[in-house]
Amino acid sequence: MTALVLAQEREYAFVTYRIRPMSADDIPVMTSWHYPPPYDFYDPDADEDDLAELSDPSRWGHDYFTAVNEQHEVVGFFQFRLPEPGLVIEIGLGLRPDLTGIGLGRSYMTAGMDFAREHWCREAFQLFVAAFNRRAIKVYERLGFRSVEELRRFTGGEWRDFVRMEYPRSAETLGAAISARSRSERR
Ligand SMILES: CC(C)(COP(=O)(O)OP(=O)(O)OC[C@H]1O[C@@H](n2cnc3c(N)ncnc32)[C@H](O)[C@@H]1OP(=O)(O)O)[C@@H](O)C(=O)NCCC(=O)NCCS
Repeated sequence: MTALVLAQEREYAFVTYRIRPMSADDIPVMTSWHYPPPYDFYDPDADEDDLAELSDPSRWGHDYFTAVNEQHEVVGFFQFRLPEPGLVIEIGLGLRPDLTGIGLGRSYMTAGMDFAREHWCREAFQLFVAAFNRRAIKVYERLGFRSVEELRRFTGGEWRDFVRMEYPRSAETLGAAISARSRSERR
């Protein structure tokens, strides 16, 4: 698939996030990030496979994107995966460690969702979040995500409990949107 070259600027709360394709310069910045426990397994270099993906130039602007502020400082990353078939965009994300826990989560996530909506025109999102991560879950629930599945995943060298969350909150809405898209694709 052709790499997408996208950039978008918006003001959210008191930070203007610009989301652009990840670039080589971003990788050393992101691999220097370290979250305090228990969030340390989210460190970009904590999982070998995740780090390999992040460092793969063919992924930059395809599914890996960087968020910067008005001063062009890197403030976070997003991964947008488009599993087929369907309408769902799977979101992975991380705010820079020193920006976590100060109330930016909602605006940051909203910036990512708006970016994805506008560029891929899909109606639904899903994400996988560690079950212990009440801080993140609170942000996602406030935005209208709901927990739909509990599962275990091997990451950072161990099995962990995760929750799959979906947006929109109503499964009926999501089902109707998927059926409508399937019908139009069959025509
Ligand atoms: C997930 C993330 C976007 C959340 O954003 P954030 O800006 O850190 O979250 P906020 O500061 O807005 O906090 C959200 C809420 O959780 C609450 N909270 C914080 N720590 C908490 C805890 N241990 N348990 C329960 N709630 C907690 C906050 O008080 C806040 O609620 P309030 O608005 O009622 O006060 C951000 O922390 C991040 O990117 N972290 C990187 C690692 C990570 O967790 N990734 C998740 C990938 S799925």
